[in-house]
Amino acid sequence: MRMRKKKNGAKRIQNLSALFINCTENSAEIDGIFADERPLRIEIGCGKGDFICGISESEPEYNYIALERVGDVIMSAVEKYATSKGLGRLDDHGAWLAPDGTLYDGERYDIPTVNRGNVRFHCGEAKSFLSLLPDNSVESIYTNFSDPWPKKGYTSRRLTHSDFLKEYARVLMPGGMLKLKTDNDSFFDFSLESIGESEFELISYTRDLDASDEFSKGNIETEYERNFKSQGIRIKALKARINK
Ligand SMILES: C[S@@+](CC[C@H](N)C(=O)[O-])C[C@H]1O[C@@H](n2cnc3c(N)ncnc32)[C@H](O)[C@@H]1O
Repeated sequence: MRMRKKKNGAKRIQNLSALFINCTENSAEIDGIFADERPLRIEIGCGKGDFICGISESEPEYNYIALERVGDVIMSAVEKYATSKGLGRLDDHGAWLAPDGTLYDGERYDIPTVNRGNVRFHCGEAKSFLSLLPDNSVESIYTNFSDPWPKKGYTSRRLTHSDFLKEYARVLMPGGMLKLKTDNDSFFDFSLESIGESEFELISYTRDLDASDEFSKGNIETEYERNFKSQGIRIKALKARINK
């Protein structure tokens, strides 16, 4: 996702740092970050956050971690989420205006855990973050419109490359699901093949999400999805389960 560099980026992330997960090289601080214990879902490459905001509202019985490696992009997602939770809004100068009128301008807004809702964010590479999670700790993994990396030399960067699938298989609990949507035919074919050769069981798939009752029911559109649909591109989707 290409974006012009956002103004006040570092301070805007600092204002809402209460919604981010702290990580060191060897650990991710996830214990006690949510007010309620619920099964954990992960979205890889959350972009500007439409999907994570939508699904965390429509399926609130889960906790969610949204991963995104581009700081300027995840910032839009976090601010969108915070506003949707009634935690305030961005002012014209990049400060965060809390509901009680306090302005956070490069200082952490210490949002009480109960008010933070069921989503936390992490800015970084998905593979590094997943490597910090315990085995069998995740209920589902979502990846929407991830980069297809069409050149042969970059195959290992595709989020359905066997190296990624192995890591998903490790962190997912038995019966856990991998759910994917894409506009890209070659990437979809690659993903079907890669899943077919993995420990995952392909449960169902479609090459036209809007024509599929199963996939269109309750579907939450992402920013990219809306854009591709407006160009008449059919959305491909699949669900795969880990049996272990
Ligand atoms: C094409 S965009 C799609 C964004 C959003 N999911 C949507 O559908 O609108 C893919 C996003 O995934 C992020 N991304 C891709 N690979 C990633 C990885 N390995 N770790 C973290 N983020 C990643 C990119 O930075 C980009 O913002």
